[in-house]
Amino acid sequence: MTRGRKANSIEIPKRSADVDTPASGTDFKRALRQIASPVAIVTAANGGDIGGLTATTFCSVSSDPPTFLVCLNKGSAVAGLIDASGQFAVNLLADEQHAIARSFSGPESGTAALFSKSGWSSLLSDAPVLDDAVACLDCDVESRVDAGSHNLYLGRVRAISTAERDVLLYRDGLFRRLQPAG
Ligand SMILES: Cc1cc2nc3c(=O)[nH]c(=O)nc-3n(C[C@H](O)[C@H](O)[C@H](O)COP(=O)(O)O)c2cc1C
Repeated sequence: MTRGRKANSIEIPKRSADVDTPASGTDFKRALRQIASPVAIVTAANGGDIGGLTATTFCSVSSDPPTFLVCLNKGSAVAGLIDASGQFAVNLLADEQHAIARSFSGPESGTAALFSKSGWSSLLSDAPVLDDAVACLDCDVESRVDAGSHNLYLGRVRAISTAERDVLLYRDGLFRRLQPAG
C-alpha cells in the first residue's frame, strides 16, 4: 500500500447461516428465475436444413471486432446446424412476437415447418432472420466453448438489421413487456 493513503477496506459481515453449501440446483434455478432477459430466436442453416430455438442466454462480448455470444444446449437441433455450418443468426424479438417465442421452444422447435408461419429471410449467411425483429445479428462462429450441458458460441457479427420496437422479456416463467420504472 502507498504510504499516507487510507486502506480501501470496510468490514463486511458474513451471512454464513443463510448460505446453502454446496450451491444446490434448486437454489440455482430459483435465482435464475429472477433474471429478466430479452428473448431471441437463434437460427442456423446447413445444406437444405434450417432450425431455430428460443433463447435467453446471449450477450454482446466485444464491439471491436463486433462479437456476440449465445449459449445452446448441445442436444438441440440448432447446435448441430451451427456446428455443421459455422454460422448462426440471433433474432431479438419484439414484445408482440411472444407467440413465435412459444413456438420455437415447444415440441415443434427445430423443425423447418415453423418458418412458414411468419416472415423470414436471410442476410449474408443462410441462417434465417425474422421480419420486424428488434435486431438481427448474422454471425460467423469464431470459437466454441464446452460448458457442461451447453456450448457457448462466440460469433463475429457480419451483418445487422434493426427495427424500432420494444423488446420482449422473459422472467419467472412468463413473457413480459417493458414498463417504465418511475
Ligand atoms: C424463455 C426460454 C428461454 C430459453 N433459452 C434457451 C437458451 O438460451 N439456450 C438453449 O439451448 N435453450 C433455451 N431454451 C430451451 C429451448 O428453446 C427448447 O429446449 C427448444 O425446444 C430446444 O429445441 P430442440 O428441439 O432443437 O432441442 C429456452 C426456452 C425458453 C422458453
